[in-house]
Amino acid sequence: MSDPNSPPKTRPFLDRLLFFLLWLRRPMRIANITPSGKHLAAAMVRGVPMDKPGSVVELGGGTGVFTAAMIRAGLPADDLVIIEREKTLFDLLTRRFPSSRVVLGDARDVHQIAEEAGANPVKAVVSGLPILTMNDEIQTAIMGGAFKAMGDDGVFVQFTYGPKSPVRQSVLDALGLTAVRAEKVPRNVPPASVYLYTVAPPAAETPLA
Ligand SMILES: C[S@@+](CC[C@H](N)C(=O)[O-])C[C@H]1O[C@@H](n2cnc3c(N)ncnc32)[C@H](O)[C@@H]1O
Repeated sequence: MSDPNSPPKTRPFLDRLLFFLLWLRRPMRIANITPSGKHLAAAMVRGVPMDKPGSVVELGGGTGVFTAAMIRAGLPADDLVIIEREKTLFDLLTRRFPSSRVVLGDARDVHQIAEEAGANPVKAVVSGLPILTMNDEIQTAIMGGAFKAMGDDGVFVQFTYGPKSPVRQSVLDALGLTAVRAEKVPRNVPPASVYLYTVAPPAAETPLA
């Protein structure tokens, strides 16, 4: 019998083909013609505090590249909640990760979905979403919902192909969050960066004159 905590065998060629076909149908939603590579997946996993107890919620699981990397790094599969909006990918994730909670839904509902899945505490939210292309309102709903689910100790892990934080400063300021570029991943195609978002520390008090 297969071990639920050993990641399933991926099928890189078929996954790439499926991704490409879905991208042809919905380019804005899928956002990339191919799943992320193993170097980017490894960098995303390094953003997750593996030693801390708690669940991880993954947004936009796709074919499960980040999911498999997290399980390989020691995250129990049943500590994972995966939200995917595309039915074909949801079905694939459900088959591939039977011990994880896979939800067909929208990342904007992350707080409610995590709560209904009994994910408590949530230590990290790992996002494969094309968040750069989303407007301020959607970015705010996703980031706000993620930190509502995680609380102030959580970390939101996001990749981008762009030169700066894909979550805009106006959104970070409104939610009291701070962004740090944790890693550059030049070996991904295209080259990517991983950003970590956390609750901003309180501003230092200015001593009274
Ligand atoms: C660029 S792909 C990344 C997939 C995978 N994590 C990877 O890195 O290969 C973006 C994924 O996010 C999903 N997605 C886009 N918008 C979403 C939303 N609002 N809620 C949930 N999933 C969404 C897409 O269906 C797609 O699977």
